[in-house]
Amino acid sequence: MTRREIVPGIEWVGAVDWDRRLFDALIPLPEGTSYNAYLVRGRDRTALIDTVDPTKADVLREHLAGVQRIDDLIIQHVEQDHSGLAPEIVARYPKVRVLATPKAQTMIADHLGIPAERVTPVADGETVSLGGKTLEFVHAPWVHWPETMLTYVPEDRLLFTCDFFGAHLAMSGLFAREAENLETSAKRYYAEIMMPFAKTIRGHLEKVRKLNPAVVAPSHGPIHDDPARILSAYERWANGAPANLVLIPYTSMHGSTGKMVGHLVEALAARGVAAIPFNLPVTDLGAYAIHLVDAATVVFATPTVLVGPHPNVVLAAALTAALRPKLRHAAVIGSYGWAGKAPETIQALASGLAAEWLPPVFARGLPTEATFEELDRLADAIAEKHKNLG
Ligand code: FEO
Repeated sequence: MTRREIVPGIEWVGAVDWDRRLFDALIPLPEGTSYNAYLVRGRDRTALIDTVDPTKADVLREHLAGVQRIDDLIIQHVEQDHSGLAPEIVARYPKVRVLATPKAQTMIADHLGIPAERVTPVADGETVSLGGKTLEFVHAPWVHWPETMLTYVPEDRLLFTCDFFGAHLAMSGLFAREAENLETSAKRYYAEIMMPFAKTIRGHLEKVRKLNPAVVAPSHGPIHDDPARILSAYERWANGAPANLVLIPYTSMHGSTGKMVGHLVEALAARGVAAIPFNLPVTDLGAYAIHLVDAATVVFATPTVLVGPHPNVVLAAALTAALRPKLRHAAVIGSYGWAGKAPETIQALASGLAAEWLPPVFARGLPTEATFEELDRLADAIAEKHKNLG
């Protein structure tokens, strides 16, 4: 993709990564991603907003071929998929001024090797004039690192938001209106990256509303020239009440736990409660995370391996707690051969959840009629807890 104009004087100079399938060696990227960087040219100065992932260095070099001067490099966020080529920019444009939040100053030294004294810290609300274009910096800690800031260009009502409002989505177009199923991609991204900071995000959403941008330009995925859509979606995800939905991440080795999951799904459905089982060995964890944005209850279902829960369910429990969803209730069900401590282990792993734990249901070997009756009682309890949820 070549350099592209967003509004006069502001160009996209990012890279599309069609083939990337994993982020942080953990997060599946079924639709690839992009790393958006932007060139802002004023009468007097030229600024580069972020860079791209170092694996796409050749693309950024191509975009900047013929750009004789960059006066300001804005590092909105120190994670390397955006800042990783900052050292190269500093080397190529030795007079460039590097601007970032005070918090980012030492992080840039730690993560990128650019000396802290080479970075000029900018205060929240501080402005830099490029001549006919102003950069106004808006500190936005915890979307999703502590050092992050947004950059507003009031002349164009254009807000650069770094990871905030992003989506892991590779596409040939540049704008949200050209994206298929954008809401699902953006929700997946919100669940995996932003949901742990939902409380902070609510405050930042208010700040963004007050700025009233006409264009929101994140660092991943498409640019929003109708920001109301993504702002409303974020408000729904961050503020909405939990839905009448139960998620059941599970693994079954010899079929006992699988039978219990099947029974619980039907028992919940018979009581008017929607339930989704996620068979972990074949589940895209991102799809599970998307539903965590809304679900009111999670039931971890696990066989017993060496007296503890199956490692797949250990991962699901740890991830669920780390994402800090708005779950209100949780339970553990499953099976064991002769003894086990799976419920206690799962509860300890997910102790960070602000959820009420319902009594566990475990079968020794094959589930019996008594097991299924216990599962029915669990379904009764969940249906009762969910009765006021939409
Ligand atoms: Fe896209 Fe937090 O980096």
